[in-house]
Amino acid sequence: MDKFVIHKSHLKGSVAVSGSKNAALPIMAATLLTDEKCVLHNVPDLMDIRTMADILRVLGKVVTFEHGTMTVAAGKKKSYFAPYDLVRTMRASFCVLGPLLAKCKKAKVSLPGGCIIGVRPVDLHIKGLEALGAKIKIDRGYCIGNGANLKGKVIYLGGHFGSSVLATDNVMSAAVLAKGDTVIEYAACEPETEALGLFLKNMGAQISGEGTPTVRIKGVDSLGGCEFKIIPDRIEAGTFIAASLATKSPLRIKGANYLHLTSVIETSRKMGAKIDIDKNGDILVKPPKVLHPAHITTLPYPGFPTDLQAQFMVALCLADGISMVTEKIYPDRFMHVAEINRMGANVQRSGPYSIVEGRRKLYGAEVMASDLRASAALVIAGMAAEGKTEVLRIYHIDRGYEKIEHKFNAAGAKVIRAKQTKDV
Ligand code: UD1
Repeated sequence: MDKFVIHKSHLKGSVAVSGSKNAALPIMAATLLTDEKCVLHNVPDLMDIRTMADILRVLGKVVTFEHGTMTVAAGKKKSYFAPYDLVRTMRASFCVLGPLLAKCKKAKVSLPGGCIIGVRPVDLHIKGLEALGAKIKIDRGYCIGNGANLKGKVIYLGGHFGSSVLATDNVMSAAVLAKGDTVIEYAACEPETEALGLFLKNMGAQISGEGTPTVRIKGVDSLGGCEFKIIPDRIEAGTFIAASLATKSPLRIKGANYLHLTSVIETSRKMGAKIDIDKNGDILVKPPKVLHPAHITTLPYPGFPTDLQAQFMVALCLADGISMVTEKIYPDRFMHVAEINRMGANVQRSGPYSIVEGRRKLYGAEVMASDLRASAALVIAGMAAEGKTEVLRIYHIDRGYEKIEHKFNAAGAKVIRAKQTKDV
């Protein structure tokens, strides 16, 4: 296992954003909807992407992946069985359910289980697929489904916490081959779901309204292969913005789509940063000498993303006053609080709220990464802290950030990957 050894860093120059993991994963799953070849460009080289490639291989696809380009073609044998060993490591693997039901007419997919950031149920996925006519039963940890008679339907897909990204993806990916018309109401509006819609349209699907709360789909008989470029990772871009704020370093962020980051840019400006977009679309972040406190509430897109809550909390610890962070997507997603408090922060959590006392100095410590985005927050805290920080269990960060230490180090950071000898 690896760890990061981090020293206080001042960043300068630029960092480039990779392709979006969360867009690539459901799109990879959707290649199951055709026997023709699909070619995906700008795919980030990450553990989660490799896991999804393995799932596609188990399901009978031939997958190659080189220099950011992934090719998915039909193999000799097809399977509809996605085993626990692969699915348990990553929730997005549940996204193969919709495509399998629509194309193979049956599926046996392990339930993904809970994870550190909360319970994370899949009721909306199942509700939506059943509304299309799929027969689904849960048996010994597996979701076993028959999709022989999928028919279009008007489906309301809102849940207790609003829309669901991957449930929308699953239902959309099944409805494209269902007979007749489907309308998904309260669909997720995230750019990653919009990208899936565009990919499906490139395959020949008839969809309108992708990226809005109402998605309309006219079922077609079959889909073909296509070539598609994965959108930039807005969460990685937002992580760089948070790093710039926390380390008080001006930074140029290249290759992001700033239109996907309006809530994050707005929040950063409230915190006193000057943010400009140049003619190439680069995001230029100039933090103030002293950050202002802010109230952040995570919400479905276009609201502030839950996947950036931890990283921005680190910056708020250094702001000049008291901030409040409200988590409206995953009320338990505060595993990072105890760790940053060990570094000198003072964050008090009560249910879905955290009060962040600013004007703190952070000091290096040994801290433990609990999940992907919390790990990124700890790396940022390490770069902003006096002295040496060791972030243990960084395999989480390798799931979702491509070459993060190389990117930060190229911009002047001191983040060293080392072997973690202690088991924690
Ligand atoms: C996706 C992202 C994840 C991000 C999350 C919210 C991927 C691979 N992952 O996860 O990084 O944090 O969106 O932006 O794209 N819910 C239900 N029932 C369901 C499904 C979800 O109640 O069947 C709840 C969840 O517990 C949560 C909320 O709905 O409270 C939103 O979750 P959802 O959008 O589904 O998250 P994911 O799609 O799993």
